[in-house]
Amino acid sequence: MKVAVRAATLNDVQICLAFEEKDEFGRKTKLDEIIVSSSIARESIFLAEQDGNAIGYASLNFLYVSKIPLLTWWYVNPESRGQGTGSLLMHSIENWLASLGFDHLLISACRELEIARHRAAGLEEIGALRLGPGEMEFFFKKSIAPANIAMTAAEAC
Ligand SMILES: CC(C)(COP(=O)(O)OP(=O)(O)OC[C@H]1O[C@@H](n2cnc3c(N)ncnc32)[C@H](O)[C@@H]1OP(=O)(O)O)[C@@H](O)C(=O)NCCC(=O)NCCS
Repeated sequence: MKVAVRAATLNDVQICLAFEEKDEFGRKTKLDEIIVSSSIARESIFLAEQDGNAIGYASLNFLYVSKIPLLTWWYVNPESRGQGTGSLLMHSIENWLASLGFDHLLISACRELEIARHRAAGLEEIGALRLGPGEMEFFFKKSIAPANIAMTAAEAC
């Protein structure tokens, strides 16, 4: 069945919060709904849907001073993994960022597997935050493929 990606709307706040809660490192705060709603207002949350059901999710934030985009959560339901949905979400994000003139984004990672994958994929490691005992968050820089930027520029003509 075909999977389609779209930007989340304010009608999707509860769906988005449910995906955010699947991050075992995530901490719940009383601000979560406001944070998610403001990300939706910036069009920076994407949902992957199959048959009208959300099966995947990706959320971006922007660093405060530099305005650099940061992929904060990227998730596909376990039964739907390995079929390209995660890549489709990532391409949608890259296309959207390219259309806004960005040529790279940052990706943060806390889990060993994820960190190893980003290193293996050759992403540039640009720093880490020591969040607490035994908890480190690593930051990687991912260039947006020139094809995405060129394609978006051509679409704009
Ligand atoms: C990461 C995730 C979203 C990928 O979704 P998916 O639908 O299985 O992705 P695809 O089938 O399109 O595969 C995309 C690529 O992601 C890679 N990948 C899988 N898990 C990954 C991870 N945790 N981090 C980085 N890359 C990952 C795959 O190896 C694949 O690369 P390849 O095409 O070079 O083989 C999914 O595995 C997931 O939800 N994992 C649990 C949550 C998580 O770890 N999220 C990332 C932290 S933000």
